[in-house]
Amino acid sequence: MAECKKSKKTTTKKTPLVEILETQTVDFPQTKQADEPTLTPKRKILFVASEARPFIATGGLADVIGSLPRAIANDPTYDVRVVLPLYSDIKPELRRKMTYHGNIYVQLSWRNQYCGVFSYQTDGVTFYFIDNEYYFKRPACYGYYDDGERFAFFSKSVLEIMPFIGFYPDVLHCHDWQAALAVIYLKTAYANRPEYQSIRALFTIHNIEYQGKFSLDILGDLFGIDDEYRNLVEYDGCINVMKGAIECSQRFSTVSPTYAQEIQTAQYAHGLEHIIQRNADKLTGILNGIDVESYNPATDPALFANYSARALKNKTVCKTELQNMLGLPVKDVPLIAMISRLVSHKGIELIKTVAEDILHEDVQFVLLGTGDFSYEEYFKDIGRRYEGKASVNIAFNGDLSRKIYSGADLFLMPSVSEPCGLSQMIASRYATIPLVRETGGLYDSIKPYGAGGNGFTFASCNPYDMLYVVHEAIDTYKNRQAWKSLMKKAATMDFSWSRSAEEYKKLYSDVFNTIG
Ligand code: GLC
Repeated sequence: MAECKKSKKTTTKKTPLVEILETQTVDFPQTKQADEPTLTPKRKILFVASEARPFIATGGLADVIGSLPRAIANDPTYDVRVVLPLYSDIKPELRRKMTYHGNIYVQLSWRNQYCGVFSYQTDGVTFYFIDNEYYFKRPACYGYYDDGERFAFFSKSVLEIMPFIGFYPDVLHCHDWQAALAVIYLKTAYANRPEYQSIRALFTIHNIEYQGKFSLDILGDLFGIDDEYRNLVEYDGCINVMKGAIECSQRFSTVSPTYAQEIQTAQYAHGLEHIIQRNADKLTGILNGIDVESYNPATDPALFANYSARALKNKTVCKTELQNMLGLPVKDVPLIAMISRLVSHKGIELIKTVAEDILHEDVQFVLLGTGDFSYEEYFKDIGRRYEGKASVNIAFNGDLSRKIYSGADLFLMPSVSEPCGLSQMIASRYATIPLVRETGGLYDSIKPYGAGGNGFTFASCNPYDMLYVVHEAIDTYKNRQAWKSLMKKAATMDFSWSRSAEEYKKLYSDVFNTIG
């Protein structure tokens, strides 16, 4: 079961005897030399998720799965692997570098489905991909009538490939509802299989809004779950796989300490508050980090000019060039930016109420994002009416987002709820001062300027409270010295994964040592 650290390869010429010994299986008595390092088994972690950078990304989950495993794998005592679906959207240049391992068949209720296994190695982490064209050769990751069946197949495959790849993890770390069934299967159908008995499960909630709810009729027919386990997954008249994973996992977590508190209340839990409260002793909140190598203003190739916390001068070049690019007059006024999905929980209603008050100030406004049709139309209208002052970009554009993070002065993120949020951390690292509502990860990462922090914050979901701090920020901007030290403060915050990776490792140990 346990794998050992491999000793370094030496390049000394082999004698014939060594060659003979290497090709034969001979048992020698093991005598340990005094200076030999003790071979401790590596702790084995298997991440299961529906997206990860650089392969496939629709949201913040992909950033986390693209960087947390690497941060854990930096510790040589860990063997970290990840399983993802092999979507047809994964870029051909990445697909070409994958290794094909063969295929197995996975039984899902009465269906017996093909499951190809590919892998890709990067930064000390092995990514496995589950191939089935019927389920994953589609133009998008989610949004199909059979998403429940697709991710049930994916989750079942995760357990089925373990003997095939020869890897039974100590901790199965599943993320969001798409991977929830892997935890449920582990604790039900696989509970009595000896090879699976020592596997512990950790389930992480990135957003409690998406719980994976399905009609109870499909429990046996699609998910292949016996009726005796119905109580584990049934909630409020339907199958709720997030609820099932919370019940079945040894521990569960979410992506910030404050969100871990918030989801115990009806205001944030989208109906799951009683389940969360009942299991609260198993819950931990760990703040996400960001990839500080990729998001580094000193080296980011997307920027018009590079700069650092110590030498911020070139940030002005970034601003000027951004203004030029977006058709805004080049002038020294606060440039307020928003990069967001345009959906209600991002606080768009707050913005709508006071947008025109803000735009009557001597400021500029840049928006980048896509989302609900009515919000897109609203912002397009603002763009037309405030031409030369507001630049509205209804798009998803990674390159432009980095130009905005670097060229703006203030970053607006008034979310109604925000499990963690990554944009506020990226903005802070690019010395663009976040202005956030005090919720979830926003509360945990951005502290108010008045208290020596790195941004501006307001507490209640009240547009006029937000307007008040926008004015405070504009006033502070006018005080060049104060603004400069605020920029330095923001840009030197540590949002790397290192601290959070330590917390996850501690959590893995707790999960591992949990009985049952
Ligand atoms: C979800 C959350 C977001 C979080 C991300 C990564 O997208 O909405 O707040 O940062 O997951 O955990």
